[in-house]
Amino acid sequence: MKIIFATQNKGKSEEVKAIFSGSGIEVFSLYDLGNNIDIEEHGKTFRENAFIKAKTVYDIYKVPVVADDSGLEIEQLDGRPGVYSARYAGDNCTYMDNNLKVIDELKNFPEPHKAKFISYAVYYDGRREIESIGELPGIIINEMRGKNGFGYDPVFIPDGFDKTISELDFDFKNKISHRAKSFAVLKVKLISTD
Ligand code: IMP
Repeated sequence: MKIIFATQNKGKSEEVKAIFSGSGIEVFSLYDLGNNIDIEEHGKTFRENAFIKAKTVYDIYKVPVVADDSGLEIEQLDGRPGVYSARYAGDNCTYMDNNLKVIDELKNFPEPHKAKFISYAVYYDGRREIESIGELPGIIINEMRGKNGFGYDPVFIPDGFDKTISELDFDFKNKISHRAKSFAVLKVKLISTD
């Protein structure tokens, strides 16, 4: 079975391909297909945005699609950046801009800065809608550490660890992450429903 993953984010796509490897489900990202469509995520929740991405891409290719909308929620910032995680520091901002903005906003708050990553994963094939959520709790630190991963990985230490996700290796992130959890459950639901 072939599935399109509705993302151009290379970091996400490598993670999800690894999660599906060996399952008999082959995953292609929009990046692999050379499609740089800009899907407007006008939803107010991760769930809404995930289905917007999946249905937009399904309407183009008419083949099964998986999508995820994900982001970081920081307690002391009332859940921000949340659904605005990708463009938190403004249009065309870099991951570093976003990290610096978060570090700056948290300067006025006492540590620990509790946070969680959330991934809302969905599947859509024109008929079936399957969904699943995964979370990774942790804290935000006041500096960027490590080289691996993407997004807010350099400022996020998962609960129970003393390293940022960027200091952990790819395979390890892919065992504990919010996306690993949401897609692992999505995969099981997908294989067991018809
Ligand atoms: P999306 O592609 O609209 O779901 O935006 C997700 C954004 O949330 C990314 O651009 C990152 O800023 C952030 N994000 C989501 N998952 C992760 C992760 O695993 N590590 C670090 N940042 C993440």
